[in-house]
Amino acid sequence: MRVLIVGSGGREHALAWALAASPLVDTLYCAPGNAGIAALATCLPIDVLNLDALVAFATETLVDLVVVGPEGPLVAGLVDRLEAAGIKAFGPSAAAAALEGSKGFMKDLCARHNIPTAAYGRFAEAAPAHAYVDRVGVPIVVKADGLAAGKGVILAHDLATAHAAIDDCFSGRFGAAGAEVVVEEFLLGEEASFFALVDGRHALPFASAQDHKAVGDGDTGPNTGGMGAYSPAPVMTPALTDEVMRTIIRPTVDAMAAEGRPFRGVLFAGLMITAEGPKLLEYNTRFGDPETQAMLVRLKSDLLPALLATVDGVLDRFDLRFSDQAGLCVVMANKGYPGTLEPGGTITGLDQAAKAALEVTVFHAGTRLDGANLVPAGGRVLGVTATGASVAEAQARAYAAVDAINWPGGFCRRDIGWRAIARERA
Ligand code: AMP
Ligand code: GLY
Repeated sequence: MRVLIVGSGGREHALAWALAASPLVDTLYCAPGNAGIAALATCLPIDVLNLDALVAFATETLVDLVVVGPEGPLVAGLVDRLEAAGIKAFGPSAAAAALEGSKGFMKDLCARHNIPTAAYGRFAEAAPAHAYVDRVGVPIVVKADGLAAGKGVILAHDLATAHAAIDDCFSGRFGAAGAEVVVEEFLLGEEASFFALVDGRHALPFASAQDHKAVGDGDTGPNTGGMGAYSPAPVMTPALTDEVMRTIIRPTVDAMAAEGRPFRGVLFAGLMITAEGPKLLEYNTRFGDPETQAMLVRLKSDLLPALLATVDGVLDRFDLRFSDQAGLCVVMANKGYPGTLEPGGTITGLDQAAKAALEVTVFHAGTRLDGANLVPAGGRVLGVTATGASVAEAQARAYAAVDAINWPGGFCRRDIGWRAIARERA
């Protein structure tokens, strides 16, 4: 089969790596890809939001399956366009991607269908949002409704911060994404990410993960797209997984089908495990980055049939096998990230890194070739990923590989997995 992956990050490199291993894949394309993906796929200079060019390429090249990585093209309707052209695509329609594209839509759906989530108000104007904050008090969470590249969530511990966040959103700081605001209850507990494949009617648990959003060790400093992740999330016991499937995932799948927006693709639930049970913080309608790197190194089954079964609506007759090893991904970022990037220099030592420890895979997140030199191209640059019998072993292997990489312009957190490792030692 001919498969086209859309995207250019570490998630897409991990997807390309897993799909390249499938005996069913003859040719792999990636638009636009990166220097690591180029070793596995033919990279095409097409932007992920250039829907016309993506559909034209897939049509002319007789692509059998398109796998869409990021949310932007999903919300913009890439899968609808591909399906209209008769091309199979893994990912939700624009109508179903609203679960990620509009927090207000997601919250209202939960309210209509009794899906556990934080209590909230949804506002199109500032005055009632301010009044809601004054009534409920702090701590409280203010969220821009639309896609804001992970920056549209403000956790407010005092009233001034909450009111300023509301004014910020409505003053256009997040562009159109802030035209509406969701203000919600501050939930306490441990966070976990849970992924399920969904074919419109059936949901198949995929895997769980936990990520580290803060830039600094000890979960300090500003939030990023994710500085590392590990899978599985120890907090997601089999009993809790069943509860999440029963109270959150399946009701969502049924609700989306009943409301005429059947969801097909991967549903990524951001959960808070509260004293009252698991509650939904947010949905993403795609694989996570860097969670995918940590999950896919554990996948024993061929990924391609799983994606096809999702598109074809036959997940009820499908199963997936994961190794019981832990997977862990350490993100190496360009100095300055998530703020202004410093000059990144060149990266060497990736071959030594892959041999520095057992079971290491170095995924590229933002790299390109400048002549013969590998150079950074973005904030998050590499995803050094390893498996191990425990999170601690996977972490030791990943950092041994990190230490073999020669990149003075980069940095990483040194404590990815700390919470799970503390649990292993307890
Ligand atoms: P989101 O993009 O909605 O996942 O929010 C980003 C991060 O903000 C989450 O990973 C949580 O750490 C935090 N967060 C979001 N909503 C809440 C909430 N209602 N209560 C506490 N923390 C939250
Ligand atoms: N790592 C979080 C995300 O992919 O949204």
